Amino acid sequence: MQESTEQPRQIQLDFLGDLRRTHSCGELRAADAGKKALLMGWVHRRRDHGGVIFINLRDREGLTQVVFHEDVAAEVHSKAEELRSEFVIAVEGTVVLREAGTINPNIPTGEIEITAETVWVLNECRPIPFTIDEFSEVAEDVRLKYRYLDLRRPQMQRNIILRSKVSFAVREFMYSQGFHEIETPFLTKSTPEGARDFLVPSRLNSGMFYALPQSPQIFKQILMVSGFDKYFQIVRCFRDEDLRADRQYEFTQIDIEMSYPQEETVFAVVEGMLKGIFDTAGFQIELPFPRLTYAQAMRSYGIDKPDMRIPAFHCVEDIFAGQGLTTEGLPLVAIRIPNTGGASRKERDDLKAYGTERGLRVYDDAKRLDRDFPELMAKVRERTGATENDLLLLCGWPGEPKGHRPEETVLQACGQLRLEAARKYADKHKLFEGNVFKWLWVTDFPMFEWDEEDQRWVAAHHPFTSVMDSDIDKLTADPARCRAKSYDVVLNGTELGSGSIRIHRRDVQAKVFSALGLTDEEARAKFGFLLEALEFGAPPHGGIALGLDRLVMLLAGEKSIRDVIPFPKTSKGTDLMSDAPSPANEKALRDLGIQLRRQ
Ligand code: AMO
Repeated sequence: MQESTEQPRQIQLDFLGDLRRTHSCGELRAADAGKKALLMGWVHRRRDHGGVIFINLRDREGLTQVVFHEDVAAEVHSKAEELRSEFVIAVEGTVVLREAGTINPNIPTGEIEITAETVWVLNECRPIPFTIDEFSEVAEDVRLKYRYLDLRRPQMQRNIILRSKVSFAVREFMYSQGFHEIETPFLTKSTPEGARDFLVPSRLNSGMFYALPQSPQIFKQILMVSGFDKYFQIVRCFRDEDLRADRQYEFTQIDIEMSYPQEETVFAVVEGMLKGIFDTAGFQIELPFPRLTYAQAMRSYGIDKPDMRIPAFHCVEDIFAGQGLTTEGLPLVAIRIPNTGGASRKERDDLKAYGTERGLRVYDDAKRLDRDFPELMAKVRERTGATENDLLLLCGWPGEPKGHRPEETVLQACGQLRLEAARKYADKHKLFEGNVFKWLWVTDFPMFEWDEEDQRWVAAHHPFTSVMDSDIDKLTADPARCRAKSYDVVLNGTELGSGSIRIHRRDVQAKVFSALGLTDEEARAKFGFLLEALEFGAPPHGGIALGLDRLVMLLAGEKSIRDVIPFPKTSKGTDLMSDAPSPANEKALRDLGIQLRRQ
Protein backbone atom coordinates (compact mmCIF):
# COMPACT_ATOMS: atom_id res chain seq x y z
CA MET A 1 0.00 0.00 0.00
CA GLN A 2 1.39 3.42 -0.85
CA GLU A 3 0.27 7.03 -0.85
CA SER A 4 2.11 8.87 -3.56
CA THR A 5 2.66 12.60 -3.67
CA GLU A 6 5.43 12.78 -6.30
CA GLN A 7 4.83 14.86 -9.44
CA PRO A 8 2.91 12.71 -11.92
CA ARG A 9 4.04 12.49 -15.49
CA GLN A 10 1.95 14.38 -18.03
CA ILE A 11 -1.27 12.53 -18.55
CA GLN A 12 -4.00 12.71 -21.12
CA LEU A 13 -6.99 14.74 -19.85
CA ASP A 14 -10.54 13.95 -20.87
CA PHE A 15 -13.38 16.31 -21.73
CA LEU A 16 -16.50 16.50 -19.61
CA GLY A 17 -18.46 16.20 -22.85
CA ASP A 18 -22.05 15.33 -22.00
CA LEU A 19 -21.21 13.26 -18.92
CA ARG A 20 -23.73 13.73 -16.10
CA ARG A 21 -23.45 12.78 -12.46
CA THR A 22 -25.99 10.25 -11.26
CA HIS A 23 -25.20 10.60 -7.56
CA SER A 24 -23.14 12.70 -5.18
CA CYS A 25 -20.22 11.13 -3.31
CA GLY A 26 -22.24 11.03 -0.09
CA GLU A 27 -25.37 9.46 -1.43
CA LEU A 28 -25.05 5.75 -2.19
CA ARG A 29 -26.18 3.19 0.39
CA ALA A 30 -26.44 -0.60 0.66
CA ALA A 31 -29.90 -0.45 -0.95
CA ASP A 32 -28.27 0.87 -4.13
CA ALA A 33 -26.18 -2.27 -4.63
CA GLY A 34 -26.34 -3.46 -8.21
CA LYS A 35 -27.08 0.00 -9.64
CA LYS A 36 -24.90 1.76 -12.18
CA ALA A 37 -23.51 5.06 -10.92
CA LEU A 38 -21.50 7.89 -12.39
CA LEU A 39 -19.75 10.03 -9.78
CA MET A 40 -17.46 13.04 -10.10
CA GLY A 41 -15.11 14.53 -7.57
CA TRP A 42 -11.61 14.84 -6.22
CA VAL A 43 -9.24 11.97 -5.55
CA HIS A 44 -9.10 12.16 -1.77
CA ARG A 45 -6.78 9.19 -1.15
CA ARG A 46 -5.32 6.56 -3.43
CA ARG A 47 -4.14 3.23 -2.13
CA ASP A 48 -2.33 1.04 -4.60
CA HIS A 49 -2.36 -2.68 -3.77
CA GLY A 50 -0.89 -3.72 -7.10
CA GLY A 51 -3.70 -5.48 -8.93
CA VAL A 52 -6.30 -3.44 -7.04
CA ILE A 53 -6.34 0.31 -6.57
CA PHE A 54 -8.68 1.99 -4.07
CA ILE A 55 -9.67 5.59 -4.44
CA ASN A 56 -11.73 7.63 -2.04
CA LEU A 57 -13.64 10.03 -4.23
CA ARG A 58 -14.74 13.26 -2.53
CA ASP A 59 -17.22 16.00 -3.22
CA ARG A 60 -19.15 18.43 -1.04
CA GLU A 61 -21.47 15.68 0.13
CA GLY A 62 -18.93 13.09 1.27
CA LEU A 63 -16.68 10.22 0.25
CA THR A 64 -17.25 7.09 -1.80
CA GLN A 65 -14.75 4.27 -2.24
CA VAL A 66 -14.02 3.34 -5.86
CA VAL A 67 -12.13 0.14 -6.70
CA PHE A 68 -10.13 -0.43 -9.85
CA HIS A 69 -9.48 -4.16 -10.53
CA GLU A 70 -6.75 -4.95 -13.02
CA ASP A 71 -8.42 -8.23 -13.91
CA VAL A 72 -11.83 -6.59 -14.52
CA ALA A 73 -10.80 -3.55 -16.54
CA ALA A 74 -7.04 -3.45 -17.21
CA GLU A 75 -7.07 -0.18 -19.16
CA VAL A 76 -9.08 1.64 -16.51
CA HIS A 77 -6.82 0.20 -13.81
CA SER A 78 -3.72 1.50 -15.55
CA LYS A 79 -5.32 4.95 -15.85
CA ALA A 80 -6.00 4.84 -12.11
CA GLU A 81 -2.26 4.30 -11.53
CA GLU A 82 -1.70 7.83 -12.80
CA LEU A 83 -4.17 9.47 -10.42
CA ARG A 84 -2.87 11.59 -7.56
CA SER A 85 -4.40 13.55 -4.68
CA GLU A 86 -6.92 16.18 -5.77
CA PHE A 87 -7.10 15.11 -9.40
CA VAL A 88 -10.63 15.69 -10.66
CA ILE A 89 -12.18 12.59 -12.14
CA ALA A 90 -15.44 11.06 -13.29
CA VAL A 91 -15.99 7.36 -12.63
CA GLU A 92 -18.67 5.07 -13.89
CA GLY A 93 -19.22 1.65 -12.40
CA THR A 94 -21.44 -0.67 -10.46
CA VAL A 95 -22.40 -0.23 -6.80
CA VAL A 96 -21.41 -3.33 -4.82
CA LEU A 97 -21.70 -4.26 -1.16
CA ARG A 98 -18.40 -4.30 0.68
CA GLU A 99 -17.29 -7.51 2.31
CA ALA A 100 -18.10 -7.68 6.01
CA GLY A 101 -14.56 -6.96 7.28
CA THR A 102 -14.09 -3.96 5.00
CA ILE A 103 -17.19 -1.97 5.93
CA ASN A 104 -16.31 1.54 7.11
CA PRO A 105 -18.78 2.54 9.85
CA ASN A 106 -17.35 6.07 9.98
CA ILE A 107 -18.86 7.27 6.71
CA PRO A 108 -22.48 7.04 5.51
CA THR A 109 -21.42 5.34 2.25
CA GLY A 110 -19.22 2.89 4.18
CA GLU A 111 -21.25 -0.22 3.31
CA ILE A 112 -20.71 0.05 -0.44
CA GLU A 113 -18.04 0.69 -3.02
CA ILE A 114 -18.04 1.23 -6.76
CA THR A 115 -16.32 -1.18 -9.11
CA ALA A 116 -14.93 1.19 -11.72
CA GLU A 117 -15.69 0.38 -15.34
CA THR A 118 -14.71 3.70 -16.94
CA VAL A 119 -12.71 6.64 -15.67
CA TRP A 120 -12.27 10.12 -17.11
CA VAL A 121 -9.51 12.40 -15.84
CA LEU A 122 -11.04 15.86 -15.96
CA ASN A 123 -8.13 17.74 -14.41
CA GLU A 124 -4.85 17.18 -12.69
CA CYS A 125 -3.48 18.87 -9.59
CA ARG A 126 -0.05 20.06 -8.52
CA PRO A 127 1.37 18.42 -5.38
CA ILE A 128 -0.71 19.93 -2.60
CA PRO A 129 0.78 21.92 0.31
CA PHE A 130 -1.39 20.12 2.88
CA THR A 131 -3.78 17.21 2.88
CA ILE A 132 -7.47 17.91 2.58
CA ASP A 133 -8.64 16.32 5.76
CA GLU A 134 -10.19 17.18 9.04
CA PHE A 135 -7.16 16.67 11.18
CA SER A 136 -4.18 18.18 9.41
CA GLU A 137 -2.63 20.87 11.58
CA VAL A 138 -1.63 23.50 9.05
CA ALA A 139 -0.19 26.94 9.80
CA GLU A 140 -2.85 29.58 9.27
CA ASP A 141 -0.78 31.61 6.78
CA VAL A 142 -0.45 28.54 4.56
CA ARG A 143 -4.17 27.89 4.84
CA LEU A 144 -4.95 31.49 3.89
CA LYS A 145 -2.53 31.53 0.95
CA TYR A 146 -4.12 28.38 -0.47
CA ARG A 147 -7.59 29.27 0.79
CA TYR A 148 -9.28 27.47 -2.13
CA LEU A 149 -7.70 24.23 -0.88
CA ASP A 150 -8.34 25.02 2.77
CA LEU A 151 -12.01 25.57 1.93
CA ARG A 152 -12.17 22.05 0.50
CA ARG A 153 -11.51 20.64 4.00
CA PRO A 154 -14.63 19.12 5.56
CA GLN A 155 -14.53 21.45 8.56
CA MET A 156 -14.46 24.56 6.36
CA GLN A 157 -17.12 23.13 4.06
CA ARG A 158 -19.31 22.59 7.11
CA ASN A 159 -18.69 26.09 8.45
CA ILE A 160 -19.38 27.91 5.21
CA ILE A 161 -22.50 25.87 4.51
CA LEU A 162 -23.67 26.49 8.09
CA ARG A 163 -23.19 30.20 7.44
CA SER A 164 -25.35 29.96 4.34
CA LYS A 165 -28.04 28.11 6.30
CA VAL A 166 -27.94 30.74 9.04
CA SER A 167 -28.51 33.51 6.48
CA PHE A 168 -31.42 31.55 5.06
CA ALA A 169 -32.92 31.03 8.54
CA VAL A 170 -32.63 34.77 9.22
CA ARG A 171 -34.44 35.64 6.01
CA GLU A 172 -37.08 32.97 6.54
CA PHE A 173 -37.88 34.21 10.05
CA MET A 174 -37.73 37.92 9.26
CA TYR A 175 -40.03 37.61 6.25
CA SER A 176 -42.42 35.52 8.34
CA GLN A 177 -42.62 38.45 10.77
CA GLY A 178 -43.37 41.02 8.08
CA PHE A 179 -39.86 42.46 7.69
CA HIS A 180 -38.43 43.42 4.31
CA GLU A 181 -34.81 43.27 3.27
CA ILE A 182 -33.72 46.63 1.92
CA GLU A 183 -30.24 47.54 0.68
CA THR A 184 -28.35 50.65 1.74
CA PRO A 185 -25.32 52.18 -0.02
CA PHE A 186 -21.67 51.22 0.35
CA LEU A 187 -20.30 54.43 -1.13
CA THR A 188 -21.50 56.84 1.49
CA LYS A 189 -20.54 59.26 4.25
CA SER A 190 -18.86 58.54 7.55
CA THR A 191 -21.03 56.65 10.07
CA PRO A 192 -20.75 57.08 13.82
CA GLU A 193 -19.63 53.66 15.10
CA GLY A 194 -16.35 54.91 16.50
CA ALA A 195 -13.82 53.07 14.34
CA ARG A 196 -11.75 54.57 11.51
CA ASP A 197 -13.39 54.69 8.09
CA PHE A 198 -12.20 53.04 4.93
CA LEU A 199 -12.15 55.87 2.41
CA VAL A 200 -12.74 55.54 -1.33
CA PRO A 201 -11.53 58.39 -3.56
CA SER A 202 -14.02 59.83 -6.00
CA ARG A 203 -12.68 60.17 -9.57
CA LEU A 204 -15.36 62.57 -10.75
CA ASN A 205 -15.13 64.72 -7.62
CA SER A 206 -11.40 65.05 -7.28
CA GLY A 207 -10.17 65.43 -3.72
CA MET A 208 -13.43 64.03 -2.31
CA PHE A 209 -13.89 60.68 -0.64
CA TYR A 210 -16.69 58.29 0.08
CA ALA A 211 -16.56 56.37 3.34
CA LEU A 212 -17.52 52.69 3.36
CA PRO A 213 -20.26 52.20 5.96
CA GLN A 214 -19.23 51.05 9.44
CA SER A 215 -22.91 50.11 9.71
CA PRO A 216 -26.12 51.08 7.91
CA GLN A 217 -27.19 52.95 11.06
CA ILE A 218 -28.16 56.30 9.55
CA PHE A 219 -29.78 54.82 6.47
CA LYS A 220 -31.89 52.39 8.45
CA GLN A 221 -33.14 55.25 10.63
CA ILE A 222 -33.96 57.21 7.49
CA LEU A 223 -35.83 54.19 6.16
CA MET A 224 -38.08 54.49 9.23
CA VAL A 225 -38.65 58.16 8.40
CA SER A 226 -39.54 56.95 4.88
CA GLY A 227 -42.17 54.55 6.16
CA PHE A 228 -40.40 51.20 5.70
CA ASP A 229 -41.32 50.02 9.17
CA LYS A 230 -39.75 46.58 9.82
CA TYR A 231 -36.54 46.64 7.83
CA PHE A 232 -33.72 44.14 7.96
CA GLN A 233 -30.60 43.54 5.97
CA ILE A 234 -27.78 41.01 5.96
CA VAL A 235 -25.13 43.54 5.20
CA ARG A 236 -21.38 43.94 4.89
CA CYS A 237 -19.87 46.61 7.17
CA PHE A 238 -16.35 48.04 7.11
CA ARG A 239 -14.29 49.20 10.06
CA ASP A 240 -10.64 50.06 10.11
CA GLU A 241 -9.83 48.89 13.63
CA ASP A 242 -7.31 46.54 15.23
CA LEU A 243 -8.09 42.98 14.20
CA ARG A 244 -8.65 40.19 16.73
CA ALA A 245 -10.06 36.68 16.73
CA ASP A 246 -13.60 38.10 16.72
CA ARG A 247 -13.00 41.17 14.51
CA GLN A 248 -12.46 41.68 10.81
CA TYR A 249 -12.17 44.82 8.68
CA GLU A 250 -15.18 43.70 6.70
CA PHE A 251 -17.79 41.72 8.52
CA THR A 252 -21.49 41.01 8.18
CA GLN A 253 -24.31 42.34 10.31
CA ILE A 254 -27.87 41.20 10.64
CA ASP A 255 -29.25 44.71 10.81
CA ILE A 256 -32.78 45.35 12.06
CA GLU A 257 -34.93 48.45 12.56
CA MET A 258 -38.60 49.02 13.29
CA SER A 259 -40.99 51.85 14.07
CA TYR A 260 -42.83 52.34 17.38
CA PRO A 261 -41.03 49.47 19.21
CA GLN A 262 -40.61 49.01 22.92
CA GLU A 263 -37.33 47.39 23.90
CA GLU A 264 -39.37 44.22 24.48
CA THR A 265 -40.53 44.27 20.86
CA VAL A 266 -36.92 44.19 19.66
CA PHE A 267 -36.00 41.44 22.14
CA ALA A 268 -38.87 39.23 20.98
CA VAL A 269 -37.89 39.55 17.31
CA VAL A 270 -34.24 38.81 18.01
CA GLU A 271 -35.01 35.87 20.30
CA GLY A 272 -37.38 34.37 17.70
CA MET A 273 -34.79 34.80 14.99
CA LEU A 274 -32.02 33.23 17.09
CA LYS A 275 -34.28 30.31 17.96
CA GLY A 276 -34.87 29.74 14.24
CA ILE A 277 -31.13 29.90 13.55
CA PHE A 278 -30.24 27.47 16.34
CA ASP A 279 -33.02 25.10 15.27
CA THR A 280 -31.45 25.04 11.82
CA ALA A 281 -28.15 24.02 13.35
CA GLY A 282 -29.84 21.34 15.49
CA PHE A 283 -29.73 23.11 18.86
CA GLN A 284 -32.68 23.95 21.08
CA ILE A 285 -32.54 27.24 22.94
CA GLU A 286 -34.85 28.39 25.68
CA LEU A 287 -36.72 31.67 25.49
CA PRO A 288 -36.89 34.29 26.84
CA PHE A 289 -33.22 35.01 27.54
CA PRO A 290 -32.31 36.16 31.06
CA ARG A 291 -31.87 39.92 31.51
CA LEU A 292 -29.49 42.00 33.57
CA THR A 293 -29.14 45.74 33.68
CA TYR A 294 -25.67 47.07 33.01
CA ALA A 295 -25.39 48.01 36.71
CA GLN A 296 -26.31 44.46 37.78
CA ALA A 297 -23.89 42.94 35.27
CA MET A 298 -21.10 45.11 36.63
CA ARG A 299 -21.94 44.27 40.29
CA SER A 300 -21.99 40.52 39.55
CA TYR A 301 -19.49 40.04 36.75
CA GLY A 302 -17.49 43.25 36.36
CA ILE A 303 -18.10 43.25 32.63
CA ASP A 304 -20.90 44.29 30.29
CA LYS A 305 -20.82 40.96 28.43
CA PRO A 306 -20.74 38.35 31.18
CA ASP A 307 -19.92 34.77 30.36
CA MET A 308 -22.67 33.06 32.32
CA ARG A 309 -20.93 29.69 32.18
CA ILE A 310 -18.70 30.96 35.01
CA PRO A 311 -20.27 31.82 38.41
CA ALA A 312 -20.94 35.44 39.29
CA PHE A 313 -18.73 37.13 41.84
CA HIS A 314 -20.13 38.71 44.98
CA CYS A 315 -19.63 42.12 46.51
CA VAL A 316 -18.86 41.63 50.21
CA GLU A 317 -17.76 45.12 51.37
CA ASP A 318 -20.80 45.17 53.70
CA ILE A 319 -19.51 42.04 55.48
CA PHE A 320 -16.01 43.49 55.90
CA ALA A 321 -17.10 47.06 56.72
CA GLY A 322 -14.40 48.92 58.67
CA GLN A 323 -11.74 46.17 58.21
CA GLY A 324 -9.63 48.16 55.75
CA LEU A 325 -9.53 45.46 53.08
CA THR A 326 -10.62 47.98 50.45
CA THR A 327 -10.74 51.75 50.15
CA GLU A 328 -13.74 53.13 52.02
CA GLY A 329 -16.77 53.37 49.69
CA LEU A 330 -15.37 50.99 47.07
CA PRO A 331 -16.31 47.35 46.45
CA LEU A 332 -14.67 44.31 48.01
CA VAL A 333 -15.26 41.39 45.69
CA ALA A 334 -15.26 37.65 46.37
CA ILE A 335 -14.40 35.63 43.25
CA ARG A 336 -15.17 31.94 43.28
CA ILE A 337 -14.05 29.48 40.63
CA PRO A 338 -15.63 26.10 41.32
CA ASN A 339 -13.90 22.73 41.65
CA THR A 340 -10.34 23.81 41.19
CA GLY A 341 -9.42 21.20 43.78
CA GLY A 342 -7.17 23.59 45.68
CA ALA A 343 -4.98 26.01 43.78
CA SER A 344 -1.20 25.69 44.01
CA ARG A 345 0.94 28.46 45.48
CA LYS A 346 2.25 29.27 41.99
CA GLU A 347 -1.26 29.45 40.49
CA ARG A 348 -2.38 31.79 43.24
CA ASP A 349 0.76 33.92 42.86
CA ASP A 350 0.09 34.29 39.14
CA LEU A 351 -3.51 35.34 39.72
CA LYS A 352 -2.49 37.73 42.44
CA ALA A 353 0.08 39.33 40.11
CA TYR A 354 -2.58 39.61 37.38
CA GLY A 355 -4.93 41.41 39.78
CA THR A 356 -2.22 43.64 41.22
CA GLU A 357 -1.24 44.77 37.72
CA ARG A 358 -4.82 45.99 37.34
CA GLY A 359 -4.69 47.99 40.54
CA LEU A 360 -6.37 45.47 42.87
CA ARG A 361 -5.26 44.19 46.23
CA VAL A 362 -5.81 40.43 46.02
CA TYR A 363 -6.21 38.29 49.14
CA ASP A 364 -5.48 34.88 47.66
CA ASP A 365 -5.00 32.79 50.79
CA ALA A 366 -8.53 31.75 51.68
CA LYS A 367 -7.34 29.47 54.49
CA ARG A 368 -5.60 32.39 56.14
CA LEU A 369 -8.67 34.60 55.73
CA ASP A 370 -10.76 31.83 57.32
CA ARG A 371 -8.33 31.87 60.25
CA ASP A 372 -8.11 35.65 60.58
CA PHE A 373 -11.82 36.42 60.03
CA PRO A 374 -13.70 33.19 60.88
CA GLU A 375 -17.13 34.77 61.35
CA LEU A 376 -16.89 37.13 58.42
CA MET A 377 -15.56 34.42 56.13
CA ALA A 378 -18.41 32.12 57.14
CA LYS A 379 -20.75 34.80 55.79
CA VAL A 380 -18.68 35.11 52.59
CA ARG A 381 -18.81 31.36 52.09
CA GLU A 382 -22.54 31.39 52.65
CA ARG A 383 -23.05 34.21 50.14
CA THR A 384 -20.76 32.78 47.48
CA GLY A 385 -21.43 29.09 48.09
CA ALA A 386 -17.64 28.53 48.07
CA THR A 387 -16.44 25.15 49.36
CA GLU A 388 -12.97 23.91 50.27
CA ASN A 389 -12.70 22.55 46.75
CA ASP A 390 -13.19 25.96 45.10
CA LEU A 391 -10.77 28.76 44.47
CA LEU A 392 -11.78 31.83 46.49
CA LEU A 393 -10.15 35.24 46.07
CA LEU A 394 -11.03 38.48 47.83
CA CYS A 395 -10.22 41.64 45.90
CA GLY A 396 -10.20 45.19 47.15
CA TRP A 397 -8.87 48.52 45.93
CA PRO A 398 -5.91 49.78 47.92
CA GLY A 399 -5.58 53.34 46.58
CA GLU A 400 -7.52 56.45 45.74
CA PRO A 401 -10.76 56.00 43.78
CA LYS A 402 -10.03 56.17 40.06
CA GLY A 403 -12.08 57.32 37.05
CA HIS A 404 -15.46 59.00 36.65
CA ARG A 405 -17.28 55.89 37.92
CA PRO A 406 -14.70 54.65 40.49
CA GLU A 407 -16.80 51.69 41.62
CA GLU A 408 -16.82 50.49 38.01
CA THR A 409 -13.03 50.75 37.78
CA VAL A 410 -12.74 48.27 40.66
CA LEU A 411 -15.49 45.97 39.38
CA GLN A 412 -13.97 45.89 35.90
CA ALA A 413 -10.57 44.88 37.25
CA CYS A 414 -12.26 42.13 39.29
CA GLY A 415 -14.16 41.04 36.17
CA GLN A 416 -10.89 40.61 34.30
CA LEU A 417 -9.42 38.61 37.16
CA ARG A 418 -12.52 36.41 37.30
CA LEU A 419 -12.12 35.59 33.60
CA GLU A 420 -8.38 35.01 33.92
CA ALA A 421 -8.94 32.63 36.84
CA ALA A 422 -11.64 30.77 34.93
CA ARG A 423 -9.42 30.47 31.86
CA LYS A 424 -6.64 29.04 34.02
CA TYR A 425 -8.87 26.20 35.15
CA ALA A 426 -11.05 25.94 32.06
CA ASP A 427 -9.29 22.99 30.49
CA LYS A 428 -8.88 21.13 33.75
CA HIS A 429 -12.56 21.46 34.59
CA LYS A 430 -14.03 21.50 31.10
CA LEU A 431 -15.64 24.85 31.84
CA PHE A 432 -16.11 25.82 28.23
CA GLU A 433 -16.66 22.41 26.64
CA GLY A 434 -19.75 21.03 24.93
CA ASN A 435 -22.51 22.90 23.22
CA VAL A 436 -23.55 25.04 26.16
CA PHE A 437 -25.16 28.29 25.07
CA LYS A 438 -25.65 30.86 27.83
CA TRP A 439 -27.63 33.84 26.61
CA LEU A 440 -28.19 37.19 28.20
CA TRP A 441 -29.68 40.58 27.47
CA VAL A 442 -27.79 43.45 29.09
CA THR A 443 -29.92 46.59 29.28
CA ASP A 444 -29.81 50.17 30.59
CA PHE A 445 -26.26 50.94 29.51
CA PRO A 446 -24.67 54.23 30.50
CA MET A 447 -25.32 56.89 27.90
CA PHE A 448 -21.73 58.16 27.88
CA GLU A 449 -18.20 56.92 28.36
CA TRP A 450 -15.24 59.06 29.30
CA ASP A 451 -12.60 59.21 26.58
CA GLU A 452 -9.25 59.53 28.42
CA GLU A 453 -7.32 60.47 25.30
CA ASP A 454 -9.62 63.30 24.22
CA GLN A 455 -10.70 64.13 27.80
CA ARG A 456 -14.39 64.27 26.92
CA TRP A 457 -17.59 62.26 27.07
CA VAL A 458 -18.37 60.10 24.04
CA ALA A 459 -21.52 58.14 23.21
CA ALA A 460 -21.29 54.66 24.75
CA HIS A 461 -23.39 53.20 21.89
CA HIS A 462 -23.80 55.87 19.22
CA PRO A 463 -25.05 59.45 19.40
CA PHE A 464 -28.53 58.57 18.08
CA THR A 465 -29.38 56.47 21.13
CA SER A 466 -32.23 57.67 23.37
CA VAL A 467 -31.52 58.62 26.91
CA MET A 468 -33.85 57.14 29.57
CA ASP A 469 -36.84 59.45 29.96
CA SER A 470 -36.03 59.84 33.66
CA ASP A 471 -32.40 60.84 32.96
CA ILE A 472 -33.02 63.48 30.31
CA ASP A 473 -32.38 66.32 32.77
CA LYS A 474 -29.00 64.84 33.73
CA LEU A 475 -27.69 65.08 30.15
CA THR A 476 -25.42 68.00 30.84
CA ALA A 477 -25.59 68.17 34.66
CA ASP A 478 -24.46 64.59 35.37
CA PRO A 479 -23.48 62.73 32.18
CA ALA A 480 -21.73 59.97 34.18
CA ARG A 481 -25.09 58.86 35.62
CA CYS A 482 -27.21 59.09 32.46
CA ARG A 483 -28.58 55.78 31.27
CA ALA A 484 -29.50 54.95 27.68
CA LYS A 485 -32.27 52.92 26.12
CA SER A 486 -29.67 50.56 24.76
CA TYR A 487 -29.13 46.85 25.02
CA ASP A 488 -26.74 44.07 24.01
CA VAL A 489 -27.39 40.43 23.38
CA VAL A 490 -24.55 38.32 24.77
CA LEU A 491 -23.71 34.67 24.17
CA ASN A 492 -21.08 32.88 26.28
CA GLY A 493 -19.28 36.13 27.03
CA THR A 494 -19.27 37.42 23.44
CA GLU A 495 -21.22 40.52 22.47
CA LEU A 496 -23.30 39.22 19.60
CA GLY A 497 -25.43 42.26 19.00
CA SER A 498 -26.09 45.78 20.10
CA GLY A 499 -28.99 48.11 19.64
CA SER A 500 -31.08 50.90 21.03
CA ILE A 501 -34.25 52.88 20.91
CA ARG A 502 -33.28 55.91 18.85
CA ILE A 503 -33.79 59.60 19.31
CA HIS A 504 -36.58 60.59 16.94
CA ARG A 505 -36.91 64.23 18.00
CA ARG A 506 -34.64 66.94 16.69
CA ASP A 507 -34.68 68.87 20.01
CA VAL A 508 -33.56 65.85 22.03
CA GLN A 509 -30.90 65.04 19.45
CA ALA A 510 -29.56 68.59 19.79
CA LYS A 511 -29.30 68.17 23.59
CA VAL A 512 -27.35 64.93 23.19
CA PHE A 513 -24.97 66.48 20.69
CA SER A 514 -24.38 69.34 23.06
CA ALA A 515 -23.68 66.89 25.91
CA LEU A 516 -21.14 65.28 23.57
CA GLY A 517 -19.53 68.67 23.01
CA LEU A 518 -20.63 68.88 19.36
CA THR A 519 -21.77 72.28 18.14
CA ASP A 520 -24.82 72.45 15.91
CA GLU A 521 -22.58 73.26 12.93
CA GLU A 522 -20.32 70.29 13.61
CA ALA A 523 -23.32 68.01 14.01
CA ARG A 524 -24.82 69.31 10.76
CA ALA A 525 -21.54 68.80 8.91
CA LYS A 526 -21.32 65.21 10.14
CA PHE A 527 -24.90 63.94 10.16
CA GLY A 528 -26.90 66.83 8.67
CA PHE A 529 -29.01 64.63 6.45
CA LEU A 530 -30.26 62.56 9.38
CA LEU A 531 -30.94 65.65 11.47
CA GLU A 532 -32.94 67.16 8.65
CA ALA A 533 -34.87 63.93 8.19
CA LEU A 534 -35.79 63.99 11.90
CA GLU A 535 -37.50 67.34 11.24
CA PHE A 536 -39.94 65.73 8.80
CA GLY A 537 -42.17 63.64 11.02
CA ALA A 538 -39.77 60.89 12.14
CA PRO A 539 -41.66 58.16 14.00
CA PRO A 540 -40.24 56.71 17.25
CA HIS A 541 -38.01 53.87 16.15
CA GLY A 542 -35.36 51.44 17.33
CA GLY A 543 -33.45 48.35 16.38
CA ILE A 544 -30.33 46.29 16.70
CA ALA A 545 -27.51 44.72 14.73
CA LEU A 546 -26.03 41.27 15.33
CA GLY A 547 -22.63 40.12 14.09
CA LEU A 548 -23.30 37.24 11.71
CA ASP A 549 -19.67 36.12 11.70
CA ARG A 550 -19.54 35.94 15.50
CA LEU A 551 -22.82 34.10 15.60
CA VAL A 552 -21.68 31.45 13.13
CA MET A 553 -18.32 31.19 14.91
CA LEU A 554 -20.05 30.31 18.19
CA LEU A 555 -22.52 27.97 16.50
CA ALA A 556 -19.71 26.15 14.71
CA GLY A 557 -17.66 25.93 17.93
CA GLU A 558 -14.78 27.84 16.33
CA LYS A 559 -12.41 30.17 18.16
CA SER A 560 -11.85 32.63 15.31
CA ILE A 561 -14.25 34.34 12.92
CA ARG A 562 -11.66 33.72 10.20
CA ASP A 563 -12.82 30.10 10.24
CA VAL A 564 -16.36 31.02 9.23
CA ILE A 565 -15.49 33.64 6.60
CA PRO A 566 -14.57 32.25 3.18
CA PHE A 567 -11.89 34.84 2.40
CA PRO A 568 -10.82 36.65 5.59
CA LYS A 569 -7.93 39.01 6.20
CA THR A 570 -4.97 38.15 8.41
CA SER A 571 -4.47 39.96 11.70
CA LYS A 572 -2.28 42.39 9.73
CA GLY A 573 -5.20 43.15 7.41
CA THR A 574 -3.79 41.40 4.36
CA ASP A 575 -5.29 38.82 2.04
CA LEU A 576 -2.52 36.29 1.51
CA MET A 577 -4.29 34.65 -1.42
CA SER A 578 -4.91 37.71 -3.61
CA ASP A 579 -2.06 39.74 -2.12
CA ALA A 580 -4.31 42.66 -1.22
CA PRO A 581 -3.71 45.43 -0.41
CA SER A 582 -1.37 46.27 -3.27
CA PRO A 583 0.05 49.49 -4.71
CA ALA A 584 -2.12 51.43 -7.14
CA ASN A 585 -0.61 52.17 -10.52
CA GLU A 586 0.41 55.71 -11.42
CA LYS A 587 -2.37 56.22 -13.95
CA ALA A 588 -5.09 55.15 -11.51
CA LEU A 589 -3.72 57.57 -8.92
CA ARG A 590 -3.48 60.38 -11.48
CA ASP A 591 -7.10 59.78 -12.53
CA LEU A 592 -8.10 60.06 -8.89
CA GLY A 593 -6.05 63.21 -8.38
CA ILE A 594 -3.96 61.50 -5.71
CA GLN A 595 -0.27 62.06 -5.13
CA LEU A 596 1.45 59.81 -2.63
CA ARG A 597 3.70 61.27 0.05
CA ARG A 598 6.65 58.92 0.49
CA GLN A 599 7.35 58.43 4.20
P1 AMO B 1 -22.16 47.62 16.94
O1 AMO B 1 -21.08 48.56 16.57
O2 AMO B 1 -22.21 47.16 18.35
O3 AMO B 1 -23.60 48.26 16.65
O4 AMO B 1 -22.09 46.36 15.98
C1 AMO B 1 -23.08 45.34 16.03
C2 AMO B 1 -22.44 43.97 16.06
O5 AMO B 1 -21.59 43.77 14.92
C3 AMO B 1 -20.51 42.92 15.27
N1 AMO B 1 -19.24 43.59 14.97
C4 AMO B 1 -18.19 43.00 14.38
N2 AMO B 1 -18.00 41.73 13.98
C5 AMO B 1 -16.83 41.43 13.42
N3 AMO B 1 -15.82 42.33 13.20
C6 AMO B 1 -15.97 43.62 13.59
N4 AMO B 1 -14.99 44.49 13.35
C7 AMO B 1 -17.20 44.00 14.23
N5 AMO B 1 -17.68 45.16 14.72
C8 AMO B 1 -18.92 44.89 15.17
C9 AMO B 1 -20.64 42.62 16.75
C10 AMO B 1 -21.51 43.74 17.24
O6 AMO B 1 -22.25 43.38 18.39
N6 AMO B 1 -25.38 50.48 14.39
C11 AMO B 1 -25.22 49.68 15.59
C12 AMO B 1 -26.38 48.72 15.80
C13 AMO B 1 -27.68 49.38 16.16
O7 AMO B 1 -27.70 50.28 17.03
O8 AMO B 1 -28.71 48.97 15.60
C14 AMO B 1 -23.93 48.88 15.49
O9 AMO B 1 -23.33 48.75 14.44
O10 AMO B 1 -21.27 41.35 16.92
